[in-house]
Amino acid sequence: MTRRAAGDQSDWTVPQDWDAYTPDEHRLWDLLYARQLEVLPGRAADAFMRGLDRLRLHGAGIPDFQRLNAELAALTGWSIVAVPGLVPDEVFFEHLANRRFPAGRFIRRPDQLDYISEPDIFHDVFGHAPLLADPVFGDYLQAYGAGGLRSMGLNALDNLARLYWYTVEFGLIATPDGLRIYGAGIVSSPAESVFALESASPHRIGFDLERIMRTAYRIDDFQQSYFVIESFDQLFAATAQDFAPIYQRLASAAPLGVIDLLPGDDVRQRGDQSYVTRAVPAV
Ligand code: PHE
Ligand code: CO
Repeated sequence: MTRRAAGDQSDWTVPQDWDAYTPDEHRLWDLLYARQLEVLPGRAADAFMRGLDRLRLHGAGIPDFQRLNAELAALTGWSIVAVPGLVPDEVFFEHLANRRFPAGRFIRRPDQLDYISEPDIFHDVFGHAPLLADPVFGDYLQAYGAGGLRSMGLNALDNLARLYWYTVEFGLIATPDGLRIYGAGIVSSPAESVFALESASPHRIGFDLERIMRTAYRIDDFQQSYFVIESFDQLFAATAQDFAPIYQRLASAAPLGVIDLLPGDDVRQRGDQSYVTRAVPAV
């Protein structure tokens, strides 16, 4: 079921091989899709819902990248390329810098509905593709790819990776109707879609580029802090500056833990961290 082959191209891409998906795999996509649609309206950013709609990702099982790419090409010039699994950082960045989003072509097993350690096609395509249809977000992600390549030369990959984590994967956005989710790691998870907005546990902090690039994150459970942008324009504008001086400052700055708050933080909601401390004896 999990088809894996070493990428035989230097860019690690493989054919999606859409005809090889089984009826069970298509049904699994439809099930994951239906579960998300129960929680996303009113919680996901408008741009995400709009993209989902435009790309017609529903109803017919696992999307065929050829069909999907025809839509994306017309909207923003992005495309999805199939890869066997995680790819090396420089390969990933190189794809993004050229408006190609690498997506795992395998789908999780039925016993992995809620948690997978490696991003599958549902996370990568359902979670990421809709915002590739947004012009400003698409430009941000392309710039991020170029910045990623640059960060490797400047020894600052960890700093830049945190920016990806707290925006592309776990970002929140403020709207006149309240906070909405847009990060792919949230919108592809039924439980975190609710938790990220409604739980009293996590901190919700206004976007601050340098602060984010100093902040650790967790890969094994819900986030303990989320960062809130006002718009994709804000994100794009804040990241247009030259990062080299920032990297230099950060090299000597103390890293921040997932739970830390700083005096200068724009705290929108101070989390009580009850989710994390629930099973732990009081100290
Ligand atoms: N401006 C960044 C740099 O100088 C590049 C970048 C853009 C990084 C957008 C992330 C997001 O390296
Ligand atoms: Co992702």
